[in-house]
Amino acid sequence: MNHSTFKQLTLALVAAISIFMVQCKNEKPPAENETPPAPAATISKAAYGTTPDGQAVDKFTMKNKQGMQVDVITYGGIITSWTAPDKAGNYANVVLGYDSLAQYLRATPYFGAIIGRYGNRIAKGKFSLDGKEYKLETNDGPNTLHGGVKGFDKVVWTASEQPVDNGAALKLTYVSKDGEGGYPGTLTSTVVYHLTDDNALEVSYEATTDKKTIVNLTQHSYFNLSGDFTKNILDHELTIDADKFLPVDATLIPTGELKPVENTPFDFRQPKTIGRDIEQKDDQLTKGKGYDHCWALNGQGFRKVSTAYHAGTGRLLEISTDEPGIQFYCGNFLDGTLPMPGGGTYAHRTGFCLETQHYPDSPNQSSFPTTTLAPGEKYATKTTFKFSTK
Ligand code: BGC
Repeated sequence: MNHSTFKQLTLALVAAISIFMVQCKNEKPPAENETPPAPAATISKAAYGTTPDGQAVDKFTMKNKQGMQVDVITYGGIITSWTAPDKAGNYANVVLGYDSLAQYLRATPYFGAIIGRYGNRIAKGKFSLDGKEYKLETNDGPNTLHGGVKGFDKVVWTASEQPVDNGAALKLTYVSKDGEGGYPGTLTSTVVYHLTDDNALEVSYEATTDKKTIVNLTQHSYFNLSGDFTKNILDHELTIDADKFLPVDATLIPTGELKPVENTPFDFRQPKTIGRDIEQKDDQLTKGKGYDHCWALNGQGFRKVSTAYHAGTGRLLEISTDEPGIQFYCGNFLDGTLPMPGGGTYAHRTGFCLETQHYPDSPNQSSFPTTTLAPGEKYATKTTFKFSTK
């Protein structure tokens, strides 16, 4: 082949490839009436303020393809707002909270926070491991509640965006020093909030320690599925898949008994409104000032354990977990003193919590599933909150 034939052939080849590429490009012209693809999920960050000891707090906003939005601040890993659609497709915030760091610093009943190192109560703020007694800070009458005076809800977590295929995710990390709050061992905890594109929030907790310790992490969002926080939650229909619950003493410490829910106001195995039996004459309702108890969940492994449904808006929340227990607390201590964003105050029972966890006071009750974590072991647990409508 002489030089000019080669040149001609090359030119012809280049021309053919160009025509082919143009054709490919034009093969699927966008149809005029085709709906544009849903926007990808996003995560953004903004400054939220500074703690009194000078730590910067950020707010992360995760938004999925459908438009569900979850706002998380690095102080306490608090979910400050979480929108969910009603049956007409309108999104509204369905969790109680505040709109400034100052209010979270002033007074909060754990609105939306990560709870640790030990969620729920430990009797008299004491427990023993390998024959050594540990004394915790007490902050709830004679007992320790939700970690103590400065639990994981009151510390600043380190945050990083987590790459995920589906939705958006935020990873929070906190290293609790050996002896902090009275607990033994340096505990490194991570909590990942993963908002999926099918309107679920997966909360994955992990922890490791360098000395034998105890751990029981949970999430303390107060839900009101009506999206209207001037209304109480007594009309929400609840299910809890549990044949037994844990009766408590006058200071809300479990007595150790696992009592059948059958023929008691604590039977939520079939859907019933929170308000249906709450005013019944019942010693346990008196002690809890309403529902403020742990249910011993049926089954094991990751499974659906609870649902909450608000008929007025059609919002349905389904909770799945691998934990053995769930604390159902229906806002009995909300008393109209805490301010609501936009004006007004949070009145009695305007939010309920469904806190998946190990049983309260487990370190002092040998018949309960253990909450001990040893060096070399990994604490790992997951809970999913899924929203839909019906
Ligand atoms: C407890 C309540 C407590 C509330 C704090 C719940 O997890 O069960 O007894 O008052 O947290 O707001």
